[in-house]
Amino acid sequence: MRVAIIGTGYVGLTTGVCLAFTGHTVFCLDTDEAKVEALKRGKIPIYEPSLEELLEEARPNLTFTTSYPEAIPHADVVFIAVGTPPTPSGAPNLEFLSQAARSIGQHMSTGFTVVVNKSTVPIGSGNWVDSLLRDAVSTRADKNEVHFAVASNPEFLREGSALHDSLYPDRIVIGADEAKALEVMYTLYRPILDQTFSAPTYLPRPEGVGAVPMLSSDLASAELIKYAANAFLALKVSFINEIGLVAERVGADISEVARGIGLDSRIGPRFLSAGIGWGGSCFGKDTAALIATAGEYGLHLPIVESARKINSRQRDRVVEKLLNELKLLKGRTIGLLGLAFKPNTDDLREAPAIEIAQKLIDRGVRVKAHDPIAMGRFTREHGNMGVTLCDTPESVAAGSDALVLVTEWNEYRDLDWETVGKSMRSPFILDGRHALDAEKIIRSGMRYATLG
Ligand code: UDX
Repeated sequence: MRVAIIGTGYVGLTTGVCLAFTGHTVFCLDTDEAKVEALKRGKIPIYEPSLEELLEEARPNLTFTTSYPEAIPHADVVFIAVGTPPTPSGAPNLEFLSQAARSIGQHMSTGFTVVVNKSTVPIGSGNWVDSLLRDAVSTRADKNEVHFAVASNPEFLREGSALHDSLYPDRIVIGADEAKALEVMYTLYRPILDQTFSAPTYLPRPEGVGAVPMLSSDLASAELIKYAANAFLALKVSFINEIGLVAERVGADISEVARGIGLDSRIGPRFLSAGIGWGGSCFGKDTAALIATAGEYGLHLPIVESARKINSRQRDRVVEKLLNELKLLKGRTIGLLGLAFKPNTDDLREAPAIEIAQKLIDRGVRVKAHDPIAMGRFTREHGNMGVTLCDTPESVAAGSDALVLVTEWNEYRDLDWETVGKSMRSPFILDGRHALDAEKIIRSGMRYATLG
C-alpha cells in the first residue's frame, strides 16, 4: 500500500519506518526542511535504539519530503502524527493538526483515502478533522470524486523501545465509523497482526509473540482508549509511590511489596516501580488533557488528579530526603546521575531531573550531573540553568555531598562504589529508582536511601 505520514517526531518516524519495513511504500513528510534533509542522509533527530539500522533496511520503501503534493496524492492511507504540545490550560495545542488536515484535504487523490489520527488528540477530534478535510475538499474542482474516511489509531509506543512496541504490539486499536476504513487499516497492519515479516536480527521477535489482536471501535472510543491507557499506567506508578510512603514508615520494602502484588495476575507486575515518579511527554500531558476534557463536560476526575499530585510530591520528597540527611542544603554540592526522563532516550520533556535540579538550585545547592546520552540535548535546551555537566559519573561524585540516582541507566548499576564513596565529601546516595544493589553500596561504606 502507499502511505503518507505527516510529522517525523517519535511517533511519525517510528510508524513510517516500521510500515516501510513491513513492505509498504511510505512518504514521511515534515515541514522542517533541516530535519528532512538530515533524514535523507540517514541522520535521526532523536535517540532511539535500532531506529537508524531499521531505517537503512527500510530505505528502499521510504521517501522523506517537505512537499504535500509529493506525499499525499495516491496515498491509500495518510497518518497525521504531528505534535500536539500542551497549552497552559492542559488542553493540547491543535494548530499543527489543523494545518495538516487542511493540506491533506487540498492534495488527497480522487478515489478513497483513509486519514488516520495518530497524534494524541482530544476526544472528538476525529469528527473535527473530518470537518476540516471536508472544508478543504469542498474548494476543489474535483470534489465529487474525492472520498475519504477518518480513523483513529492511537500509539502505545514507549520511547526507548518504540520499535519493539511498534513491531510486536500488545494490540492495535483502530477507531472508525466506516467499515471500509477498517478494512484498509486491517490490510495495512496485516504483516504486524499476523507477524509474517521476518524479524530484524537486532530486534528479534520475543518468544511467544503470536497473532496480535486488533480492536476495532468507533472513533470516540479509540480516542478515549489512548487517554485511559496512559492515565491508568500513570496512576499505577503513583499508587505504588503512595504505598511507598507507608512502606517507609512501617519499615517495609516497597520493591518486595510491588513484587508481591504484581504476581496477582489481576494486577500485573509492570509499572509498579516506585521512586521519583513519571516524566516524559505523555503521562503529564495526557492526564492533564483528560482532566481538561472531563472539565468541559462538568466532570471531575479525582483519581487522575491525585495521581498527578502524588507524582509531583515525589520530586519534593527527594529534596526533603536530602535535607534530612545533609541538614543544610545551602552551599552543598549534589550530583545527579541521569537527566533523561527514563533510560534509553535523550528526551528531557518533563524529566524529573530538571525539576529536581531547579528545586536544589533554588535552595542554594551546586548541582552537578551526568547522563550517557542526554547531555548534548540538555545543553541545548537547559544550558542556562546553572547545572555543571560532567563527562563521567565518577566526576559527578567527586567532591559531592550526595548523589541522587535519577535515571536508572544500566551503566550506573555497576559503578565501583568504594572508589565513588571515597571521592565524595560525604558518601551518601539516594537511589531514586530502586535500581541499585543496596547491600553492595552499604558494604562499600556508603550511606544508602530510597524513596519508599
Ligand atoms: C508512555 C506509554 O507507556 C506509552 O504507551 C505511550 O504511548 C506514551 O507514553 P513513555 O512516556 O515513552 O511511554 O515511557 P514509559 O515507559 O511509559 O515511562 C513513563 C515514565 O514513568 C518514565 O518517567 C518512567 O521512569 C516512569 N515509570 C515507569 C516509573 O516511575 N515506574 C514504573 O514502574 C514505570
